[in-house]
Amino acid sequence: MLRSFVLVILCLCVASGEESCDRSEMENTICSLCSQRRGGQLLESGHQIAFFAYMSQSVQINAISKYMTFVYDRVETNVGNGYDVQSGNFTAPENGVYVFHTSTTSFDKSYCTVEVVKNGQIKDITFADSWNHDDRAVASSMIILSLTKGDIVLVRVGAKQGGNYLESNQYTRMSFSGFKLA
Ligand SMILES: *[C@@H]1O[C@H](CO)[C@@H](O)[C@H](O)[C@H]1NC(C)=O
Repeated sequence: MLRSFVLVILCLCVASGEESCDRSEMENTICSLCSQRRGGQLLESGHQIAFFAYMSQSVQINAISKYMTFVYDRVETNVGNGYDVQSGNFTAPENGVYVFHTSTTSFDKSYCTVEVVKNGQIKDITFADSWNHDDRAVASSMIILSLTKGDIVLVRVGAKQGGNYLESNQYTRMSFSGFKLA
């Protein structure tokens, strides 16, 4: 559409044969249209997208099961509305390269594998494991993913879990966060 617009301008200029429509003026017009267009594209795809959510309370091991999605219920930041607090899913609002982080703490003889999953495919795995001792084990993951608009990234229980609970309280927080690289 822009190309035909420029063409129309060029044609009009040629047709009218006016001295005022000289070569440098046309070049200026085209350059300004091009830069406007580039600016527009940048605006269309360059939205800020960033979220941070955590568990408002500890997660009992007997309340979770293999491949269950962790729903981080306390949302601190959700610029761009990609994170859904009902399902725990992050849905990419637009194409881009995204960074995700998750942190999980197992407490007193507990353990849980934690998977970061994109459209059903496991992309990263971490293991909070304090199975053979009291006290905590903190496991975190940072992952960089190239996403297409609509892709879903979530954090879920992996193949193994057992013991008492995963801790999220005044000492540590289970969290899921992410952002789109500018
Ligand atoms: C959340 O993601 C899962 C796995 O991709 C999908 O099956 C489910 O429909 C999604 N739920 C919502 C509410 O988007």
